[in-house]
Amino acid sequence: MYYPEELVEEVRMKNDIVDVISGYVKLQKKGASHFGLCPFHNEKSPSFSVSGAKQMYYCFGCGAGGNVFTFIMNYENYTFGEAIKMLAERAGVNLPEVEYSEEMRKKENHRARLLEANKEAAKYFYYQLRAKQGEIGYRYLSGRQLSVDTMKKFGLGFANKTSDDLTKYLKQKGFDERLLAEAGLSSYDEQRGSHDKFWNRVMFPIQDINHRVIGFGGRVMGEGEPKYLNSPETPIFDKSRNLYGLNFARTARAGNIILCEGYMDVISMHQAGFTQAVASLGTAFTSGQANLLKRYTENVLLAYDSDGAGVKAALRAIGILREAGLTGKVIDLKPHKDPDEFIKNEGTEAFQERIQNAENSFMFEIRILERDYDLKDPESKTKFHKEIAKKLCGFEIEVERENYLEAVADKYHIGFENLRRLVNTYAAQTGMVKPVERPKQAAGKKTTPEENSRRTQRMLLTWLTDYPQVYPRISQYIKPSDFTEELYRKVAERLFSDIEASNYNPAGIVSMFEEEEQQREAAALFNTKVEALETKQEREKAFHDILYAVKKNSYEYYSGRLGSDMDALNQVIAGKKALEELGKTHISLD
Ligand code: GTP
Ligand code: MN
Repeated sequence: MYYPEELVEEVRMKNDIVDVISGYVKLQKKGASHFGLCPFHNEKSPSFSVSGAKQMYYCFGCGAGGNVFTFIMNYENYTFGEAIKMLAERAGVNLPEVEYSEEMRKKENHRARLLEANKEAAKYFYYQLRAKQGEIGYRYLSGRQLSVDTMKKFGLGFANKTSDDLTKYLKQKGFDERLLAEAGLSSYDEQRGSHDKFWNRVMFPIQDINHRVIGFGGRVMGEGEPKYLNSPETPIFDKSRNLYGLNFARTARAGNIILCEGYMDVISMHQAGFTQAVASLGTAFTSGQANLLKRYTENVLLAYDSDGAGVKAALRAIGILREAGLTGKVIDLKPHKDPDEFIKNEGTEAFQERIQNAENSFMFEIRILERDYDLKDPESKTKFHKEIAKKLCGFEIEVERENYLEAVADKYHIGFENLRRLVNTYAAQTGMVKPVERPKQAAGKKTTPEENSRRTQRMLLTWLTDYPQVYPRISQYIKPSDFTEELYRKVAERLFSDIEASNYNPAGIVSMFEEEEQQREAAALFNTKVEALETKQEREKAFHDILYAVKKNSYEYYSGRLGSDMDALNQVIAGKKALEELGKTHISLD
């Protein structure tokens, strides 16, 4: 959804950042800024600052920062679209309805109708569970040790024994049979006409991240087939792109997300305080779900059933997580079957302990692999070692591979050098002689020259937002094109032209970008950590160094691209001259 820039600005300006953040964080005024405990990391003394003048926030502890949109996006884990809706509502600004084509509008209406039907059904089931006819369901859920609050939080319900009361109810509310059939709430056959799909079951509404009901899982009370009956996929219910419990887990801030198999497992974990638990929707974990999780965490803990099927599913999930660039660990639930049973039998603290001791997913894979071999038999043992070596080749980064090599060699008492030779043999066979660096590795924050140069560019932009009055003094040396990152260049272009037009407004620049990731990045540009320097002299030197470094980087960047390109040549010539001058010039920050 695209909103015109003026509207985005209006919403931003009508939501004073100090007011908004005060609703989430206790702030105290200190000098020009307000300070409080950072909501984005654990801390005991306040390093989170909010500036009314800049309309921005910044944490000196963890580097989180941005404008009122980024705050809401980060705190609530909202997309930009969700954040602007919330803030517009808060300030009483009307956002325009999107102008849809006829076809799109029909589709949207249809989706809205499906959502309404599900919502009404959820309300109906909810009511039934708490009525006389739902007693049996209520007893079943209480018997499974769910508290009243838990049942309420998850909106649990009950589908009556009678076979068509929901259908009747919804039809009377104006939903037509075809829609109810599509939503998977009714089915139709010639003999009986329309009747309820779910009957005599306890009902688990499935919600999307915005708490909207998109489908249901219904469980028999006790034994019976099928144990769970799930809604079919519909235009609003994509089983490969939603996760049960994520509407709560996304704001849990536990530093990880626990992925399990069952609805009851999720509920049980939330009840025990592990509100970061989610489950797939009665189908295998997908890469779409992995990408969804990636929005909220880097660390996924698997709490799959401890039986054979669970282990197999966990191995599959590990591969999918790895492909998505997420770190997976496996929680051992033995001797119990699943998280629900574990917590019931061993309690919360024991579960917490299992979380802490979760096993690295690679070591888990090797441990499971080991079961297929007889380590007392030399031939089988050799095969096992070869398999390990093959798997180790999957680590493209040398350090990582070496670390795993060491860990595995240690655990399985294999000579380190022998195993390494084996790995090298396979690496050579598969053409993996020279390790290649993966472009983005979650772990290990090595600073590369590129990262350093981006950092200096960010620092310069931060300085300029802190001291906009300095801009005229440096404008002859620094042009937007000196920012070699595309996004930085766009920000610089806008910042410079704003300052030239006496319209300095950094918080507004963040909103130039539509993509959430870009907004975060843009916000970081104005809030890069700059060392706190005591004297004016030190500050001026630091500023000069940064300015020089940015110019030098740009000079080298364009020199490296010199070919027949006249523009680049001009850039280089001008850059060289500017660098020389800059080397001799003092720039005052006053
Ligand atoms: P409880 O037995 O109630 O504790 O459930 P559970 O969550 O432990 O169930 P289980 O481990 O057997 O299954 C895990 C998940 O798989 C469930 O939450 C369902 O989403 C799904 N599932 C289980 N049984 C069926 C079934 O018979 N049909 C379908 N479609 N899905 C099922
Ligand atoms: Mn269970």
